[in-house]
Amino acid sequence: MRIGILTGGGDAPGLNAAIRAVARRAFQLGHSVSGIKNGWAGCLEEGLIEELTPADVRGILPLGGTILGTSRTNPAKERDGIERVIVTLRHHGVDGLVSIGGDDTLGVAAKLSDAGFPTVGVPKTIDNDLSATEFCIGFDTAVGVVTEALDRLHTTASAHHRVMVVEVMGRDTGWVALMGGVAGGADLVIIPEFAVKLSDVVAHLYRRRGDGKLFSIIVVAEGAHISELEREQGGDAEKDAFGHIRLAKRGVGDLLSSAVEHDTGFETRVTVLGHLQRGGSPSPVDRIWATRLGVEAVELLVGGRSGVIPIRRDGGVDVVPLAEVVKETRRVPKELYELTQVFG
Ligand code: F6P
Repeated sequence: MRIGILTGGGDAPGLNAAIRAVARRAFQLGHSVSGIKNGWAGCLEEGLIEELTPADVRGILPLGGTILGTSRTNPAKERDGIERVIVTLRHHGVDGLVSIGGDDTLGVAAKLSDAGFPTVGVPKTIDNDLSATEFCIGFDTAVGVVTEALDRLHTTASAHHRVMVVEVMGRDTGWVALMGGVAGGADLVIIPEFAVKLSDVVAHLYRRRGDGKLFSIIVVAEGAHISELEREQGGDAEKDAFGHIRLAKRGVGDLLSSAVEHDTGFETRVTVLGHLQRGGSPSPVDRIWATRLGVEAVELLVGGRSGVIPIRRDGGVDVVPLAEVVKETRRVPKELYELTQVFG
């Protein structure tokens, strides 16, 4: 069998660990592997599918990014896009595909499988917003970056008696903000799932000063809603091929920082962590689970399964239909959000 591998959507630490796992298990079982470059673009453009050899996947386990490259190309938006993807894959002798990605990439993977091409997925997104799975490649590392940043910002915030606003990624969910905020000891975490008012933030900061706490760390997710700050949310903003606007352009961290300083008089600074959260070496958790799920994906494909994805459930590996992980955006539950409020 010839197994194709692609990585789609935003890159995330641990993608190379998954590529290595897929390739190594495939080689071990006597199969060949093709690397498809730049996500789904590699199945629509010429010259982007190449043989992947054992040497190509040597030494890549600790590397961030993806040796295959990625893109946000959406074949479902192109005329006959899904059919063209299948024709290209067949032309290159690919018998089955492992598609590593988030909801967008896996949604296309499900369409490919529905159209009759053997396809399995591997869950990846630093946003951690796929349904059903307890693990997405990249999330653990991103939380680690936020945690380290908060540790560093604590010392400088304390030295200057400042308010520090830290804007983090996560698209329409607050997983990175919440888990990073809990691990890094944020005093306030603001996430899209639970809207807050600027006056609540200001009251919180005054209360802390009143308690003798001379500095504060606020983590705000890029997609958070703070009613008095809402400005043009990019209704006409440029969207990617999957219909997403660039939430970072809202500048919620910067807006919040200015408003806080204006309303309280407390010296305030903003840090936007941005793509630092997606760069660098993957954490052990991301490496281990990318490896487990990558190996499982190959075994599923070789065993004749399609339209499915291995996930982490109850601490072990489980297999569910691709449709199940993309059916809705998994959001932060109230009880986890309330956990952050214990530490304000
Ligand atoms: O989905 C991952 C993610 O990093 C989001 O958290 C963020 O909103 C988006 O991608 C940023 O995309 P880009 O890399 O295109 O700026």
